[in-house]
Amino acid sequence: MAAVKTQVGIIGGGPSGLLLSQLLHLNGIDNIVLEKHSREYVLGRIRAGVLEHGFAKLMREADCGDRMDTEGEVHDGFFIAYNGKKNRVDLKGLTGGSSVVVYGQTELTRDLYDARAKLGGVVVHLAEDVQPHDITSKTPYLTYVKDGKKCRVDCDFIIGADGFHGISRKSIPADKIRLYERSYPFGWLGVLSNTKPVSPELIYASHARGFALCSLRSQFLSRYYIQVPIEQNASDWSDDAFWAELKLRLPNDVVAHLETGPSIEKSVAPLRSFVAEPMRYGNMFLAGDAAHIVPPTGARGLNSAASDIYYLYHALMDHYRNGDDAGLREYSQKALARVWKGQRFSWWMTTLLHRFPDNSVFDNRLQQTELDYLFSSEKALAALAENYVGLPF
Ligand code: APR
Ligand code: PHB
Repeated sequence: MAAVKTQVGIIGGGPSGLLLSQLLHLNGIDNIVLEKHSREYVLGRIRAGVLEHGFAKLMREADCGDRMDTEGEVHDGFFIAYNGKKNRVDLKGLTGGSSVVVYGQTELTRDLYDARAKLGGVVVHLAEDVQPHDITSKTPYLTYVKDGKKCRVDCDFIIGADGFHGISRKSIPADKIRLYERSYPFGWLGVLSNTKPVSPELIYASHARGFALCSLRSQFLSRYYIQVPIEQNASDWSDDAFWAELKLRLPNDVVAHLETGPSIEKSVAPLRSFVAEPMRYGNMFLAGDAAHIVPPTGARGLNSAASDIYYLYHALMDHYRNGDDAGLREYSQKALARVWKGQRFSWWMTTLLHRFPDNSVFDNRLQQTELDYLFSSEKALAALAENYVGLPF
């Protein structure tokens, strides 16, 4: 069996694994990324693209910020529409100067891949049957199969950054991990189209027919979503039916400016809240979607992953540079404290803006009151804004 030695073995070449790999490499810490799929497959996944300023800073620190800074858009606010009217959330004003960067996850991942390649970072694609071994020992290792040959990576630490369906979390004995989960009785049907976005800033819409979101990737590429029953598939919806339903859920003055066109991607994403605790088992550390998932309302997914990477990167630097393991010991607790705040916020935004099939008239009135309260109270809006731009690491 071909064997190599490295310091940190990373399972998963999504944004979490690649960002950590790049940051460690820049600081002289040797690492290898094992990714199950091809680069093209990973880049083919369409995901959200709202970055907290803390995340944008980390991308710059990773020498990956150039394209994000030229092609990404800084958004100082967004809208929540209900009762036929748009209401602006002035992120910058409410937070004393903070904003978000709108930059697609696909582009961000492409930049991370390019940065890894430029530095000669090792990212093994199409690594099949990745398995962590001896996780609780001081000498853990990974095995995988590449082109039919079995390979082995000896390392000091394993990072499980292999997403919700990955192998790392599943390798932890059931009595050593606790799972918290909520699924929602609806999904988001998303459409990407080469049209001019209806609004320069995002519009989250609450409507009796269900939630809708107007988002964008650039001034030529729009991303729209509508809430649909969980059992529906993208193939149940023609483009015309999608646009017609979207129009029914948006205020008239928005619909008047909506440019429609053929979809270039259409898919349904389920909504789920999920946390695995703790985020460490022996010398394996979980990060990103491998340990937690949020519903996309509020755009916390990628940002929660970034905060894990921030803590892990600093903890590993302390270990290798100063022989200080406090960061590694405290990683799970620190990361989870922020993860749960992201969970709370995503659950709250989801509950505020969606129509739940089993809602009573009482629940609907409360939802309406919550929205009225939000837009009548600067303090309530400030709490929303503070969470949307991202709590400090
Ligand atoms: N072996 C190797 N790689 C694997 C395995 C495995 N057994 N299982 C999954 N992977 C890979 C996937 O192919 C994927 O490329 O791990 C990667 C995980 O990437 P993501 O699912 O994107 O998770 P993460 O990097 O934590 O990204 C954070 O933020 O916006 C959210 O959910 C969104 O993906 C996003 C996440
Ligand atoms: C997206 O553009 O895909 C997007 C934006 C904001 C969200 C969720 C998704 O809250």
